[in-house]
Amino acid sequence: MYVDFHAHILPCADHGSESLEMSLLQLKHAREAGVDTIVATPHFYPGEDTVDAFLERREKAYNELVSAGTGEVKIVRAAEVQLATDIEKLEGLEKLCIEGTNYILLEFPAEPWPYWIYDSVTEIIRNRRLRPICAHIDRYSHLGRDKILRLNVDVQLNASALLDSRRHRHYYLDLIADDAVHILGSDVHGDGAYSYKDFTSAIKKIGKLMPYMTANARKILKSGEKTKW
Ligand SMILES: [Fe+2]
Repeated sequence: MYVDFHAHILPCADHGSESLEMSLLQLKHAREAGVDTIVATPHFYPGEDTVDAFLERREKAYNELVSAGTGEVKIVRAAEVQLATDIEKLEGLEKLCIEGTNYILLEFPAEPWPYWIYDSVTEIIRNRRLRPICAHIDRYSHLGRDKILRLNVDVQLNASALLDSRRHRHYYLDLIADDAVHILGSDVHGDGAYSYKDFTSAIKKIGKLMPYMTANARKILKSGEKTKW
């Protein structure tokens, strides 16, 4: 069984799912792909949202989905937090961590990146005592990916990245084997049919390295290093 570490699966929590029906369809596809745990990561855009409003919206969506029945798939509350100016100073940033941990999924903005990005990540680690995970490293340029890999943070890969070309596939498989890319996500938006088809194909491509990725995901979820807030 697998962990989907990046999923927009909570109804109306963001643009990932427009209704409970759509979320249930996403869940059905996830179950068919052998997923037993989904880290639900609605977008958090600091310029458009407050932490409290986000948490309230996410809790409502989570309760709606869990009440409808997830078919034994565990849903873990989290967020995909956009790195924006002064994010390291945001009050309540800790509340956006993956439930029960001090890991936080960070989305880098469009490139080129301003100089403060790296300082911001460093301060999130040193001052806020959080553990960033870089979301979908495959979204960025070659230069951007190299910079992220040098930050020495945990790194999440989207399943679709392993399917576009043989050259890219081998590049990412090498990064997984080198312990530079750690966890897999579907980044599902919409009904999930294509996303979980890709997820299943990616698992086959990852092959013997997949237990390592699944173990990484479960280790993070059980880390229990929740900060006091
Ligand atoms: Fe996402």
